[in-house]
Amino acid sequence: MKPGVFLTRVLPPPVMQRLKTQFDLKYNLHDRPLTKPELIRGMQGRPALISMLSDPIDAEVIASHSGLRVIANYAVGYNNIDMKAAAARRITVTNTPGVLTEATADLTWSLILSLARRVVEGDRLVRTGRWTGWNPTQLLGTQVSGKILGLIGMGRIGRAVAERAAGFGMRLLYHNRRRLPKPIEKNLHVTYRSLPRLLAAADFVSLHVPLTSGTRHLINRRAFDRMKKTALLINTARGPVVDEKALVTALKNGKIAGAGLDVFEEEPAVQRALLSLQNVVLLPHLGSATVETRVRMGWVVIENIHAVLKGKPAPNAVR
Ligand code: DGY
Repeated sequence: MKPGVFLTRVLPPPVMQRLKTQFDLKYNLHDRPLTKPELIRGMQGRPALISMLSDPIDAEVIASHSGLRVIANYAVGYNNIDMKAAAARRITVTNTPGVLTEATADLTWSLILSLARRVVEGDRLVRTGRWTGWNPTQLLGTQVSGKILGLIGMGRIGRAVAERAAGFGMRLLYHNRRRLPKPIEKNLHVTYRSLPRLLAAADFVSLHVPLTSGTRHLINRRAFDRMKKTALLINTARGPVVDEKALVTALKNGKIAGAGLDVFEEEPAVQRALLSLQNVVLLPHLGSATVETRVRMGWVVIENIHAVLKGKPAPNAVR
């Protein structure tokens, strides 16, 4: 008999095909997140749950099904899961690290470049028929080459962003909970700075930390006060790492020059004030959104479920 799996959203076709072949799969047929009652109903009787970063897997959901053995989150971040509640019931939680590093680093660079060179504003100008021809002072952006990039968080994604900076001849500063070993710093051409010193020096500040109680609102009013007026903030990590109200105030008051955001505090809601600002680029959480990556994330999920259900250690168990 194939093991039972409940999946909260439809995944790319090759992943769906493999899931259907290898498991007794039940899944959400709607093109929207499930409500809590739907989620609880759907997972009953199945030992494995595949959840998305948009599914709050709280203590009530976890307690609703005593036979649940594994929650395989289709994401690297797992702040949507009540880890204490899962641990208390000895449920293994897994994530999908590694396979989305390159896609997320690429997207970070898309935001750096589109913000610095006003790509989206230019597109809007052309589309709305307001472009009247080449103009020596039109939509002047800021040079990326030679500037200082400040990376906050130096895990896999932070490092991949640093590697990509080489071609731009940038100076790289980083801040991390733990300082990297010297040979890694040397390899990546990165210099450690305390958070206040990094914020004060960087032309581009890019966030690559997980969302934890220690990183919630890490970038707040005090942080914006420290940043350069010309600085650009990039967030492809998690929305609540930035105090969004403080960000809007900083953007409106010229405390910083702009922001590129792939993530928001209350997704999918986006503060109305952000929508009317020209100096922001807003994306709908596309960090891992390439065909290759979303398929690989599926393979990782499948591998983890098989391991747990066979009583083996899951390759990507998180605590
Ligand atoms: C993740 O997996 O945590 C990313 O945010 C997905 O884009």
